[in-house]
Amino acid sequence: MNTDRAKVAVIGSGLMGRGIGLAFAIGGHDVILVDLNLEILNKSLEQAKSTLSILEQEGLTSEPIDKISSRISLEPSIEQAAAKSNFIVEAVFENLEVKKDTFRKLDGASSVETILASNTSSLPISSIASATNHPERVVGAHFWNPPHLMPAVEVVYGEKTNDSIVSKTVEILRDIGKKPAIVRKDIAGQIGIRILYSMIREATYLVESGVASAEDVDTVVREALGTRLEVVGPLELADLSGVDLVNNVAKGLYKTLDDSVEPQKIVKDMVARGETGIKSGKGFYNWKSGSQTVDEVLRKRDSHLIKILRERRNEQTRN
Ligand SMILES: NC(=O)c1ccc[n+]([C@@H]2O[C@H](COP(=O)([O-])OP(=O)(O)OC[C@H]3O[C@@H](n4cnc5c(N)ncnc54)[C@H](O)[C@@H]3O)[C@@H](O)[C@H]2O)c1
Repeated sequence: MNTDRAKVAVIGSGLMGRGIGLAFAIGGHDVILVDLNLEILNKSLEQAKSTLSILEQEGLTSEPIDKISSRISLEPSIEQAAAKSNFIVEAVFENLEVKKDTFRKLDGASSVETILASNTSSLPISSIASATNHPERVVGAHFWNPPHLMPAVEVVYGEKTNDSIVSKTVEILRDIGKKPAIVRKDIAGQIGIRILYSMIREATYLVESGVASAEDVDTVVREALGTRLEVVGPLELADLSGVDLVNNVAKGLYKTLDDSVEPQKIVKDMVARGETGIKSGKGFYNWKSGSQTVDEVLRKRDSHLIKILRERRNEQTRN
């Protein structure tokens, strides 16, 4: 596959799918967005244009936004889209049967040269691939939300995925400015979700056992760990601190870390009370009368990501 001319289809134009489509269109590829729900599909182009105008105001587009959006087309038929594409990213509901049904259709309607990638966060790539006659061309491409702003994409091997499919997927992701990382085994949660959930498990434990409030746990993670993690990963950090020190700390500390094998009681109780977070207005925080609104947090998150991307772009221009 020549990545310069990759024609990309994104199946499912929800939260992730439309952002993934946008990332490819910004990167210069023609994109076909597909969704079963025509209302969602028809809105997705307008949503993409409005996101593009924010990116343009922030100086993050290098072409007129009409030109970028003209690369995006809408297609209600998964088979039609599959027949016209050579790189397909699936972003439908996180449900194995729905994903298998989607891959069965993609497998039947596309050329065998076409790469079939799944954006699943938690389902095994091998199980999704088992619905196809060519599991060697099925790969995970796990984008992070919001996909047009978050640089990392985990490229995940299924048991039968061909090396060349992984290499081409890495190539096309680099081509659109992403930072792909290869996950060599089809492991639950891949890299990022595993690390995120070890952190959520420990953060929940600290709150549940009365060690600290949710606000104070988040303050330490944001202000001590987060600011540094953007430039130094945990294993670089281990080298900087000294692996001998890590060894000594781990000897004493690991025994005291939370090792729950299921969600803690505090989480189960919150769910039972309907305290599901921003959806209900209350979770670990009170989103109705608390110190910040959901919109403020999302705006803060996006302007931070935009600032990082702008700095990286300026750095690349200088080099
Ligand atoms: N939301 C996140 O933060 C996030 C992050 C990384 C990965 N993911 C993964 O991305 C995938 C999509 O998540 P989302 O948050 O965008 O969900 P979503 O509900 O916003 O979007 C899913 C879309 O798929 C469409 N759809 C469902 N079945 C379909 C089918 N058979 N054919 C065509 N379209 C179909 C739905 O109409 C909907 O618009 C999931 O696998 C999820 O685990 C989500």
